[in-house]
Amino acid sequence: MQALREDVTELALGTWGLSGEAYGPVSPAEAEAVIDRALELGVTLFDTADCYGRGSMERMLGDRIRKHGSPAWIATRIGTERGEERAKKAFEPAQLRDAFERSRDRIGRDRIDICLLHNPNVMTIERGEAIGVLKELTDKGAIGAWGVSAGDQHVALAAVESGARVLSLAYNIFHTRDLHAVAGEIAMRGVSVLAHSVLSYGLLAAHWGPERTFDEGDHRRERWSPDALRRRVAQLKLVRDLVGGDVLTPRAAALRFVLSNSLVTSAVLGPRSTAQLEQLLREAGSGPPYLPESALSILPSRLLAAGISS
Ligand SMILES: NC(=O)c1ccc[n+]([C@@H]2O[C@H](COP(=O)([O-])OP(=O)(O)OC[C@H]3O[C@@H](n4cnc5c(N)ncnc54)[C@H](OP(=O)(O)O)[C@@H]3O)[C@@H](O)[C@H]2O)c1
Repeated sequence: MQALREDVTELALGTWGLSGEAYGPVSPAEAEAVIDRALELGVTLFDTADCYGRGSMERMLGDRIRKHGSPAWIATRIGTERGEERAKKAFEPAQLRDAFERSRDRIGRDRIDICLLHNPNVMTIERGEAIGVLKELTDKGAIGAWGVSAGDQHVALAAVESGARVLSLAYNIFHTRDLHAVAGEIAMRGVSVLAHSVLSYGLLAAHWGPERTFDEGDHRRERWSPDALRRRVAQLKLVRDLVGGDVLTPRAAALRFVLSNSLVTSAVLGPRSTAQLEQLLREAGSGPPYLPESALSILPSRLLAAGISS
């Protein structure tokens, strides 16, 4: 299958935050409202995983999209099993086949548009069994396009070399190295890229002071030490400098930076409320150029000068 570019919108809705597991509680009513609003505003790609909310996000997406009558696509991830205590990887063929059937059941569709292995390591990809399952399901028409959600560039490269048609990767102003490292391969093979964490978990919205703390149950509590967060917040000047003209906020600059990369098929947004969703959709811009070429070309040297080896 060719790149998804013609089939899905450049802005996709992610559901990790909506599950309430990533950043703290979100009510099911709010999560549904965000999905409904995204559908009303024309979003045609929704991103999830079987483990988000222990399957509740897949079920919710299937329901809301069906009720709306939209032909929207769903990208889901399999390969994580949630025990009572913690999650563990589950990439054995039998586990993946079961997980796929459960996802298909929850989503309520015979065919899953995009199915990704959820953060495998290089060895799992190279062993071939796990991707073999996804290839087989794709050949049977049960998956539209298979791919890998890659935690780093080594996994991304192994995935692309194994024939993945879709890559899900973190990509933002402060974290470009993984996508850049595999850019040539992606372009050559026409792989579709779903870029996530475009706001670096909210940091790039530039709303935080240096002493920002996070509640229990918010993954950002463990992500940055107080020192690392102070350093990151100080570096946001670089993002603020991109504001101007129709780029109204640092948040818009961060999102537009991702959309400016022609390798990105869709930027996967992570709003936790309809207000956040609407801000992002309003500020994204309607097409290239998303940011002035002059600003984009000097950004790499500015990042380096600020000590960001992104
Ligand atoms: N391994 C993987 O495959 C993987 C990993 C990560 C993400 N993803 C996918 O990508 C999606 C997005 O990822 P992400 O959560 O890392 O995204 P992100 O956009 O970098 O961060 C989301 C956070 O940004 C803040 N935010 C969102 N909209 C905002 C707005 N309008 N103004 C100010 N702040 C805003 C919110 O934080 P506050 O709560 O502080 O407001 C929100 O929790 C996920 O839902 C998931 O579908 C996949």
